[in-house]
Amino acid sequence: MWLSFKRLLTHISLAIFTVAGCYLAFLYTRRGDLTYTLTIGFGYISLVLLVISLVIGPLKLFWQRRNPVNLYLRRDVGIWSGITGCLHVVAALLDHRGGNFLEYFFRFTADGGITPLLNRSGIANYIGLIATILLVLLLVTSADFMLRRLKGRRWKSLQRLNYVLFALVIFHTLIYQQVSRREQLFVEATTILIIVVLVAQIVGVHLYQIHQHRNHRFRKSTIKEATR
Ligand code: HEM
Repeated sequence: MWLSFKRLLTHISLAIFTVAGCYLAFLYTRRGDLTYTLTIGFGYISLVLLVISLVIGPLKLFWQRRNPVNLYLRRDVGIWSGITGCLHVVAALLDHRGGNFLEYFFRFTADGGITPLLNRSGIANYIGLIATILLVLLLVTSADFMLRRLKGRRWKSLQRLNYVLFALVIFHTLIYQQVSRREQLFVEATTILIIVVLVAQIVGVHLYQIHQHRNHRFRKSTIKEATR
């Protein structure tokens, strides 16, 4: 089915956002190393889009009584977060260890032994791996035919895994910021993103309860009117 003009515009804006993010990463890294630039660029773009997708629902409650199961804007932003997250993983795996991605998770000893890599980057990689599995699951189930197949409620509960994904990505990012001795600005920006999501969720729950309460009172008064 053809995309509506509004959705097409959303996708074009998200593509421009992604290119702009990669350009900023290029200006930041200045190493000319493409895989490193893309690792940082796609990583942060995916994180920011994930945050936007989690904030859209609560914001919508300000001018709409119900939080609909399927909001195209939230879904499209989520799709771009998923795609850029996967591109980050590919770039990261191709970067540091010359593409030998097993070395991200295991330590190979000289005598042929293998042990899990449990230093800070090893733990960040395991967390990133679980996040990637969730990311792919959410990306696949965001398709129209999956929404029809899983029906509203089941689809919505699956999409709630976005909060688990957010927590995992935050741990992964904070650990890597320490390992890579990233500038304080990055840590502060990540902290702001965490606060934005927490505040949006608290406000969202509050607005939802107010709407529920109003709907309940409205239903009660219409029943009273009808039985009078
Ligand atoms: C198996 C999965 C993953 C692996 C192996 C991986 C690997 C890496 C590596 C090596 C870095 C450090 C880059 C550097 O500083 O040199 C990194 C950073 C980062 N990753 Fe991942 N990642 C994975 C999954 C994810 C996912 C799913 C996301 C987001 C959706 C993500 C977001 C980030 C972000 C925002 C950073 C930047 C942190 C910093 O400032 O260093 N990663 N990742």
